Amino acid sequence: MTKPQPLIAGNWKMNGLAASLSEAKAVAAGLTEITARVAICPSATLIAQMALALKGTSVAVGGQDCRAEASGAFTGDVAAEQLADAGASLVILGHSERRAGYGETDALVAAKVEAALRAGLEPIVCVGETLEQREAGEALAVVAAQVRGSLPAGLSGRAYSVAYEPVWAIGTGLTPTTPEIEDVHRAIRAVLVDMFGEAGRAPPILYGGSVKPSNAVEILAADEVGGALVGGASLKAEDFLGIIRAGSPNGSR
Ligand code: 13P
Repeated sequence: MTKPQPLIAGNWKMNGLAASLSEAKAVAAGLTEITARVAICPSATLIAQMALALKGTSVAVGGQDCRAEASGAFTGDVAAEQLADAGASLVILGHSERRAGYGETDALVAAKVEAALRAGLEPIVCVGETLEQREAGEALAVVAAQVRGSLPAGLSGRAYSVAYEPVWAIGTGLTPTTPEIEDVHRAIRAVLVDMFGEAGRAPPILYGGSVKPSNAVEILAADEVGGALVGGASLKAEDFLGIIRAGSPNGSR
């Protein structure tokens, strides 16, 4: 069975200056015969410049977080409306670095997802277990609970994706085995179908955590893997393009 169009999104995290826009432009220039959908999510400071630099290309720009409120006295925060105004069309929400570092709960992530929808942004909602949770045999239950708690009912029929990012695989070079990835992705799909009915079959379920050109072909071919959320390897155009090509089996290799 052929897979729907995959989404390959780069999460630059707190990396990148104006000079790094050349990497984003090199990604856009390298997208010949690419069938995957591609996005880059830089720091908020770079969104407007990157959107301008990538105008007319097929690379979308996304944010890495947003506040749930549309405006107000929230020093240092960014609203979904501001991301959209700067040229973003997607936003990563509930990343484990925010869940762990800023105490973001499922309920807060769900409120941010509502904000993204309100602003017309496509949310990429992250979930994933810690090493302790995996070793205790709790990975499927933890991830299922995060999906239920982080996805508001308003998502039904809207464009969004879920990103499974095992915390222990992020930035470590470690990845789950392909059957382990498939187990979690199938469990996420079952929860989506339970929550949203047939509409729950549409959103791609991305894998994230130490994706690189050398493992991307196998990971992206796995059952229920509908794309990738890439950290470190998205910072260099050559590596990111290698992953994008792995997710574009009908395009050039
Ligand atoms: P790495 O690809 O650097 O492991 O990061 C994954 C990630 O957190 C993407 O959101």
